Amino acid sequence: MRRAAPHHAAIPRSAIRLRFTGLLAIVLLLAGCGRNMVDQANLRPLESSQFFADGAGMRPPLEGTVSRREGAVDPVFLTGQDANGLVTELPVELTLELLQRGQERYDIFCAVCHGHTGAGDGMIVSRGFPAPTSFHDQRLLDASVGYYFGAMTNGFGRMYSYASRVPAEDRWAIAGYIKALQLSQNATLDDVPTDVRLELENSEGRVR
Ligand code: HEC
Repeated sequence: MRRAAPHHAAIPRSAIRLRFTGLLAIVLLLAGCGRNMVDQANLRPLESSQFFADGAGMRPPLEGTVSRREGAVDPVFLTGQDANGLVTELPVELTLELLQRGQERYDIFCAVCHGHTGAGDGMIVSRGFPAPTSFHDQRLLDASVGYYFGAMTNGFGRMYSYASRVPAEDRWAIAGYIKALQLSQNATLDDVPTDVRLELENSEGRVR
């Protein structure tokens, strides 16, 4: 019995020539690609430039530019500064929810270094990282809420910026919470509302 010829033997010569020509075309096309696209004269973000009068490569956003992340928002909300400098009041409404959100975010992002009470004694510090100044230090008690927002937004000395990790809304919540934390650590019995105070005085662990 005659065996059937293997399948490939049936491919006509013309088809093989066509494939070869196709391959040759691809090789020639690839050879045409230089590294011009990679090596072209361009600037990296924050690089300086001779081209623009201000010497910076990056262009400032046009007035009225809307952030894809934050939407169209008040510059004070994004920078923590107004015409007089660092703001002394929250640009968002102070609510219990805001402070609770601030506490949650602070405990996640800041307490590892600044400590849960803000004393600068977090776990990372106990493992050798430089200790930040306590938030209960007089200089920081006097610092405005805008100062805390600014430090998170721009970074501070060895501490990197949190702008890309913590959205502006949460940075205000944290700044508000730090101010509340400072009050809580420097509170006296007189700061407690009378009804709660009576409850505290009558409780087992008496507060004096
Ligand atoms: C990895 C540790 C670390 C984390 C996490 C961290 N910080 Fe800091 N922070 C530091 C250190 C260290 C300094 C002091 C840096 C210096 O003086 O060079 C500092 C400085 C600051 C200051 C300025 C204090 C001053 O002396 O004026 C503020 C405000 C602050 N941090 C707030 C925050 C907030 C809010 C968060 C959370 C969003 C946070 N930090 C998270 C380590 C940390």
